[in-house]
Amino acid sequence: MSVIASRRSCTLAAKQSPRKSEIASGKNKSALAMTKETHMPWNPEQYHKFQSQRSAPFYDLLKLVEIRPNLKVVDLGCGTGELTRELADSLPNSNVTGLDSSPQMLEKATVHQSANLHFKRGDQAALMETYDIIFSNAALQWSENHEALIPHLFSKLNAGGQICVQVPSNHNHISHLLIRETAKEEPFRTILNNFERIAPVLSIDEYTRILFEQGTEDIIVFEKVYPHVLENSDAIIEWI
Ligand SMILES: C[S@@+](CC[C@H](N)C(=O)[O-])C[C@H]1O[C@@H](n2cnc3c(N)ncnc32)[C@H](O)[C@@H]1O
Repeated sequence: MSVIASRRSCTLAAKQSPRKSEIASGKNKSALAMTKETHMPWNPEQYHKFQSQRSAPFYDLLKLVEIRPNLKVVDLGCGTGELTRELADSLPNSNVTGLDSSPQMLEKATVHQSANLHFKRGDQAALMETYDIIFSNAALQWSENHEALIPHLFSKLNAGGQICVQVPSNHNHISHLLIRETAKEEPFRTILNNFERIAPVLSIDEYTRILFEQGTEDIIVFEKVYPHVLENSDAIIEWI
């Protein structure tokens, strides 16, 4: 019997004003203190099992990137790097950094390294440098407090720069609700030490407000469902 899971995604893009320094200075200084790095080990083989389904939102996000030459770009939570390679290939003469906190994912990414694409380990919530494009596909949901994180990332855009990010917004899908319910039952509750993960992902209205408050230009925010037919209920566990 086939079962239908779905991947709901929240996609945002906006531009920093060409007059950035007059508008954004001094905002959200507390963002760094309110975010934390994820230390969950990642398994690249497991992640690649559903490569085509996982990459569909990436291609929708890539369409929003303003293609210009000579940009300094970062891909937050770049994972195993093949999609970062595609991002780099679409930006002529640009310098792209893939940033990820997982040594396992970065080890796989190194094969994609080239003159215009480098990978490094770091926390996406604690960017120090500034960029022309801050890009992220399916990674920001691993950092807390998006009320502070999005403005912090925005403050790391150069004048006229662009933020393009996609976060899965599946947390209220029946598959995720059932997993959270099951985690509260024994023996799982004890095994997990009462752990419960509350998704930090906000609604599209909240993201729109946050972007608007940064004085952004050309705001695009949308949610999209990517239907995903799976063989059986075991496959849903694999997918999640
Ligand atoms: C679902 S994968 C997405 C990978 C890639 N962007 C893609 O589209 O296939 C999420 C990635 O985010 C990374 N990640 C999680 N928390 C992070 C953090 N705080 N800083 C940097 N990377 C993080 C994970 O290591 C993982 O590689």
